Amino acid sequence: MKNEKYWETWSAEKLESFQEEFIDWYEKEKRNLPWRVNLDPYRIWISEIMLQQTRVDTVIDYYYRFMEWFPTIKDLAEAPDDKLLKAWEGLGYYSRARNLKVAAQQIMTEFNSQMPETIEEIRQLKGIGPYTAGAIGSIAFKIPEPAIDGNVMRVVSRLFEISDDIAKPSSRKVFEEAMSKIIDQQRPGDFNQAMMDLGSGTCTPTSPKCEECPIQSYCLSYEHNTMTNFPVKSKKQKPKDVYYIGGIIENNQQEFLLEQRDAKGLLANMWLFPIEEVSKERFEFLQKMWVKEDQQLSFDFEEPLLVAEEKPEIFEKYSHVVWQKRTLGEVTHIFSHLKWHILVFYGRQTGVTALDENQEWAIKDEFSSYVFPKPQQKMLELYKKEFKIEE
Ligand code: ADE
Repeated sequence: MKNEKYWETWSAEKLESFQEEFIDWYEKEKRNLPWRVNLDPYRIWISEIMLQQTRVDTVIDYYYRFMEWFPTIKDLAEAPDDKLLKAWEGLGYYSRARNLKVAAQQIMTEFNSQMPETIEEIRQLKGIGPYTAGAIGSIAFKIPEPAIDGNVMRVVSRLFEISDDIAKPSSRKVFEEAMSKIIDQQRPGDFNQAMMDLGSGTCTPTSPKCEECPIQSYCLSYEHNTMTNFPVKSKKQKPKDVYYIGGIIENNQQEFLLEQRDAKGLLANMWLFPIEEVSKERFEFLQKMWVKEDQQLSFDFEEPLLVAEEKPEIFEKYSHVVWQKRTLGEVTHIFSHLKWHILVFYGRQTGVTALDENQEWAIKDEFSSYVFPKPQQKMLELYKKEFKIEE
């Protein structure tokens, strides 16, 4: 029935057996993860921040390295920005890393160098919202607080046939209410993590593995065979398209031109091959002009110049560069609200030119000392493919 709070109909006995069966399942099936080896709140905090927008499999290696580089809250509070960003390179959502450092400094100055132990205080730390506070509070301090993320909403919406739109922030309340009712008061951290494991491995979005689910007999949508109607989720807005021309420019010393981004905004302080924003129409025109898969590598040495209109702007800007007469291909990358399209050209620098303040030449072996965002790594892959460089 619509809008019925089905969890309110559970008897105390039903609730108890549900919790017991669910926690038993977790004990047997739980994944061996590096942040589960002890209950150190610092370790749990870092893992939960990394896991906010990133899959478990991806997080593991980053997590080990982060713990090695910044073993204590004090190390994190004093971390050099470039090292911190390096530790996060490729994970995306870089404000998470910057917020971690600010929060570590808050802990050092406002909380006597100790991780705070109440939900209210944990919430005061930069970058920590209700989900992360619930996860840290329940796992590290055994506070019976739900930790509600997308996976948990999927499980709970199916369990109780909750039809509130999970894309709406206002729906959170109903999930909090349901979770607060069913969470195991003695083992809230295990309960929350059992929910996470069930959501990621069993109660999956498109074809849930109900036959192996430990709480199948409690699940209303299993009983009604309505699993795939839940959760109800309205469509997200499509990310906005942004178009760029990118230039991979190499000089006679096998150095590449790199440009550092502004200290504020998207990908702050990170390094990229030069890119120039263009309109969609311009991008599509140049794409038609220059993407010619069958064309061999050739440079524009002797030939008469192209008519101005056919030349990407970046050719003008770097006038000492001899450009290859076709693109290396295209790179696309989705940030949360933007989709970047980069049409990538390759050129060789001939004369010597002055560098802008935010530019440097670097050989490929030095790239590991720069912090590169994903689109940069994808551009580099195009280069390696073109020149058949294997590493
Ligand atoms: N996703 C978010 N937090 C998690 C945790 N503690 N264990 C597994 N997956 C998670």
